[in-house]
Amino acid sequence: MGGLNRRSPDALIFLIFLVFLASLTSAWKKDEFRSCRQTPFCKRARGRAPNSLPSFSVADVSLSDGAVSARLVPAPTLRQVTDDDPSAADGDDASSRSLLLRLSVYRGGILRLEIDEDPSSAPTTKRRFRLPDVLLPNLDDRRLWLSRLSPDGASATSFYLADGFEGVLRHDPFQIVVRRAGSGGEPVLSLNSHGLFDFEQLRAKKDDENWEENFRSHTDSRPNGPQSISFDVSFHGADFVYGIPEHASTSLSLRPTRGPGVDESEPYRLFNLDVFEYLHDSPFGIYGSIPFMLSHGTRSTSGFFWLNAAEMQIDVLAPGWDDPAAPNAGRVDTFWMSEAGVVDAFFFVGPGPKDVLRQYASVTGTQAMPQEFAVAYHQCRWNYRDEEDVAAVDAGFDEHDIPYDVLWLDIDHADGKRYFTWDRVLFPHPEEMQNKLAAKGRHMVTIVDPHIKRDDSFYLHKEATEKGYYVKDASGKDFDGWCWPGSSSYPDMLNPEIREWWAEKFSLKEYVGSTPSLYIWNDMNEPSVFNGPEVTMPRDAIHMGGVEHRELHNAYGYYFHMATSNGLFKRGNGKDRPFVLSRAIFAGSQRYGAIWTGDNSADWDHLRVSVPMILNLGLAGMSFSGADVGGFFGNPENDLLVRWYQLGAYYPFFRAHAHHDTKRREPWLFGEHNTALMREAIHTRYSLLPYYYTLFREAAVTGIPVMRPLWLEFPSDKETYDNGEAFLVGSSLLVHGIYEKDQKSASVYLPSGASWYNLRNGVKFDGGVSHKLAVSEDSIPSFQRAGTIIPRKDRFRRSSTQMVNDPYTLVIALNGSLAAEGELYIDDGKSYDFEQGAYIHRRFIFTDRKLTSIDIRPSNVGDKKFSTDCTVERIILLGLPSGAKKAVVEPGNHETNIELGPLTLRRASPPVALTIRKPNVRVTDDWSLRIL
Ligand code: NOJ
Repeated sequence: MGGLNRRSPDALIFLIFLVFLASLTSAWKKDEFRSCRQTPFCKRARGRAPNSLPSFSVADVSLSDGAVSARLVPAPTLRQVTDDDPSAADGDDASSRSLLLRLSVYRGGILRLEIDEDPSSAPTTKRRFRLPDVLLPNLDDRRLWLSRLSPDGASATSFYLADGFEGVLRHDPFQIVVRRAGSGGEPVLSLNSHGLFDFEQLRAKKDDENWEENFRSHTDSRPNGPQSISFDVSFHGADFVYGIPEHASTSLSLRPTRGPGVDESEPYRLFNLDVFEYLHDSPFGIYGSIPFMLSHGTRSTSGFFWLNAAEMQIDVLAPGWDDPAAPNAGRVDTFWMSEAGVVDAFFFVGPGPKDVLRQYASVTGTQAMPQEFAVAYHQCRWNYRDEEDVAAVDAGFDEHDIPYDVLWLDIDHADGKRYFTWDRVLFPHPEEMQNKLAAKGRHMVTIVDPHIKRDDSFYLHKEATEKGYYVKDASGKDFDGWCWPGSSSYPDMLNPEIREWWAEKFSLKEYVGSTPSLYIWNDMNEPSVFNGPEVTMPRDAIHMGGVEHRELHNAYGYYFHMATSNGLFKRGNGKDRPFVLSRAIFAGSQRYGAIWTGDNSADWDHLRVSVPMILNLGLAGMSFSGADVGGFFGNPENDLLVRWYQLGAYYPFFRAHAHHDTKRREPWLFGEHNTALMREAIHTRYSLLPYYYTLFREAAVTGIPVMRPLWLEFPSDKETYDNGEAFLVGSSLLVHGIYEKDQKSASVYLPSGASWYNLRNGVKFDGGVSHKLAVSEDSIPSFQRAGTIIPRKDRFRRSSTQMVNDPYTLVIALNGSLAAEGELYIDDGKSYDFEQGAYIHRRFIFTDRKLTSIDIRPSNVGDKKFSTDCTVERIILLGLPSGAKKAVVEPGNHETNIELGPLTLRRASPPVALTIRKPNVRVTDDWSLRIL
């Protein structure tokens, strides 16, 4: 906290605030955050029994604009008035108005359902909020023009959805079913099949009504009254459901939250919050919200996405929740509740797990292709104190022969937490500091949070105030909340004009002291407001067009991330891929950069929970995510820190970070032995960078995550369905964490249908079995799947940028037919030239004792070329029967020896694998290599 003693009045208030914050640490579970019971819309919705509500029926079904449109007419029964449901008053005209429904179909197996109020009969001027800017702008190009509706008996209308699937609109009561086409008509997904659909329509306030809600000392004026929506969704043929991040849960699948056998528990909450020291196993909402759930079972995989950024609560219902006498088997029922907005929901038919992910990606986009350096190791701390500290840390990595690519500066680098400025005492030469790092091929990241210090002498605050760019409070004044700089205001990121303005702030001219090698960290963008209800912005704060904060809360951080990422894009004239790390997320955040799982703790439980968290983020589109290595709060024991490096080296986003109250954590501070172990973990990541980068390309093209749950690759192996301790990197590498102190052995399940080679010693293991393996301190269990080829770069360098011209190693793990395949993607690691075809994409195929490299870059991707002189310097063969002595390379008919060699270049690695040294083929060329 270097700046504190120099700015006393502010500093004192700030210190008091920190003490207050620290007191929240133990309090938050109890009362800082709302439970469902304390959230009237959630309590009301959750209190309803299946089929207890008056139902809606469907009328006036027609085709309009190639989509199905209809009216939802409420049954004449009046809703019951309960103490908890003051909105459902007698004679409420809202309960008799019909809703408008639209069903549209998109290519590839996607059904969209929209339900909103009918503006022609609206009793108020307020319109419900439809969240813009999340769906891909070209989504409509993929809409299928429906030209025929089929009566499905008298009581339903069905229509084409995709080959083998159809959509059904049941009329009375209203229900949506996605089913397999054909005689059986097996359902895949259904909405309102338990009659829980409810839609509180906007209405005029009655004289005797009070719509306010209170929570602790905060009053929410709720000027538009009740407007919540809820409904049930069933996933048929499913054994488990996944997704809806972000939650800290040690299980991979989403555990039931209600029904037989479930103790009284909370629904999964989606409400972006700055939860100080979050629990390691809880359905409470934390920093991000992605309302996308997917289901998997032996019979089906499907998905459901509700585009709605208001507070959402989701119950996963245990079998028998609706009828204990007849528990549903092979189906997972869920119940979705949102405080506001509209129904804009997407059903994804699968049928395979990767199909569902592709379908979701075709609606919200894929992971932005990162720069190559961003895939390497990041070193962060709150805070690196000053320029000397930065220089010393940078030198420390070199002295200890540990590669790293990015050094991060937290909030104390700025002058009084005025982002875009520098504390000129601590950082008098920011450009020089960045340039020194850049000279070694390294980068810097600084933090830029959304709270702007309300200081009239701060240019950003002056401009934002003059232009009227801040979010307003309920009374129409600039919202004033408390955050790191003290009194702060927040730009209204819903407004595109304000986002443009914000983006300009990252130009090299405006961000004084920045250089082209500087990238950005967006934190506290839930948004965090220390003195706000639940440490966030009041729901009745007002955005552009009178939109209430409650309607878009979960997307505020998304917009902020988008504007920042766009700023870096503009700074580089569209030629430099942005790197922006965000804490808050919403559906679509993958298009703007990386994210991390926030303030975890330095304990074994948080190490364990990082894996299911990152896996569920990946399933929901966020490929580029990671957890703070070492744990943010507290001081990890040495063995925990080492295990965390060993696991974190496989996270898609690999960064160490720590709170300012912790002891310094640079990896050489724990004795030579531990330094060696951490160095080796980081080296492992660096050697795998070509493989990771190739996987990021796949994520950017298809939406399939870099880090994958086992079932994504082994969908019919039931043993994998709820395994949250192991994961796959791509389809070829399996990693199992070590989550306990002094653990001497681990039970590692290897999926069936493949064999697996231990990455340390090349020993082959059968799949479909749990293996009890001895665990040593120098690594965590990791395996290469038989039948795959992994590209590596094994030379040790200081940073990834220094590896650009290094030669490759190919590790070939043969399957039972002595065959294997793998891919390698290379581009300039930085620009967008790949969009014009400037990349190399090779497939390596080993079959009949011959390895062939073929070009798989399509010819129609553009004229720009990318070229490299990199060669393959080593080929390691696992599973080749011994006896092979030589290999012949074509073209050239050049012979090279086959010898025993080590699997990795680590010191003391025994020679265990057949190795071809120096085939010296260029990675860009077509070639083959025959084993004699
Ligand atoms: C909260 C973030 O989660 C943490 O990573 C950061 O160090 C602090 N804010 C200070 O910026």
